[in-house]
Amino acid sequence: MSARSRALPPALAALAAALVSLPAQARADEPFALSGGLMLSLSFGQQLAFGLGADLRLAAVLEGGDTVPRTMGFGPFAQATWLNFSAGRFAVGIHGGGELSERYAGDQYSLDGELGWTYRTRIGDQLPGQHGLHVGVMSTLESPVGLELSARAVIPLSDEPFTPEGTVGMGLRLLPPFGMRARPIDGRPLRSAEGVVLPPALALGPAAARPARLDRATRSALAGAWLDSARGECGSIPAFLALARDLAAVGAPVSLVARALAALGDEVRHTARCSAIASALAGWRLQPALLPPPPARDPDRRAALVRMALEAWHDGCLGEGAAAARARRSLVGASDAGVRAALFEIARDEAQHAELGWRVLAYCLTEGGRAVREAVGDAMTGPAPAPPGDEAEIEGERKEMEAFGALQRAQADAAWEQTWAAARREGERVLAAA
Ligand SMILES: [Fe+2]
Ligand SMILES: [Fe+2]
Repeated sequence: MSARSRALPPALAALAAALVSLPAQARADEPFALSGGLMLSLSFGQQLAFGLGADLRLAAVLEGGDTVPRTMGFGPFAQATWLNFSAGRFAVGIHGGGELSERYAGDQYSLDGELGWTYRTRIGDQLPGQHGLHVGVMSTLESPVGLELSARAVIPLSDEPFTPEGTVGMGLRLLPPFGMRARPIDGRPLRSAEGVVLPPALALGPAAARPARLDRATRSALAGAWLDSARGECGSIPAFLALARDLAAVGAPVSLVARALAALGDEVRHTARCSAIASALAGWRLQPALLPPPPARDPDRRAALVRMALEAWHDGCLGEGAAAARARRSLVGASDAGVRAALFEIARDEAQHAELGWRVLAYCLTEGGRAVREAVGDAMTGPAPAPPGDEAEIEGERKEMEAFGALQRAQADAAWEQTWAAARREGERVLAAA
């Protein structure tokens, strides 16, 4: 390492340390997004130089919704690049852009422009240090690791030599520049302090595979989809146990506590139904592991009412409402008897669970006063959470997929849109009444 190269590492190390300490999860409903990247680049114009760089950027996020067509954002950025292991380039400025992908698409693409000031330390004896105007554009793809491609240019502001420089780069990005999308909600999820938990699946031994006519790819896609459903249903069991406990703790009417416990019983049946279908398709006895409920963690009654109101909205009114709508749509094409029985039961029960969500919400609004009203109002007027089934469309022979209850992605999205629009209207009414 030459003497000159030691000038850069403190800045590069500071950026790298900031990157490492980025939070592992960012939520889409947060108004600010922090994002960092590590990149390799090639500069040309004044001197061909290989670069190793780090970038950190903050963005005020405008969420895609009714008024903003797509998620957009702007804010400051800082970059440091080590050129040919001997010189440094620093840039600071503002960036702004947005997501190009649809709000509900699985992958997140974004385009981000940069404008700022840059300084390069001297390279060898021929090129003195120079500052200039920095312009750039960066494109990222989040799927699921963030990849970025960038093109940047420097227009010199100091004298000699007046030769613009260009840089192309590629790298990895930690957290997308305009925030991470909300995780999809499917039915009532099990929430811990760290986020949504999906119970693991257990394979308990061989089972008879049926029916025989399915091809291998379709069979495994369907088995995987039904096993995922079983895991989601199984997560709802401790979620309802926690709801019953927390309702009792805030002094809710016994009828509400009893309904939460009855819903728990429904989820036990849903888990068994979905596991049985997955096992028959896989030819292997599959079953999710039952997890304990999350510990009670609200500091006081008011905080409990706010949390329960928000969960009633997201997980009950929306999540279970959408689960019911999806099951109803799946029933149209389903012909397998076991699948039809399961979908019928799920459609009926999830609609009741969504209705229980509305009751819990109404109770929390009555008891929790302004704090609950404001939190729920923000959630209802904020951006739509991502629909369930955020993963890619499951592949398989279309007719068979429908016969076994798998919904086309467009159908699942339509069920979600329908639930979201209806819940929002009903939510406005409930809020006004409160
Ligand atoms: Fe369920
Ligand atoms: Fe449910």
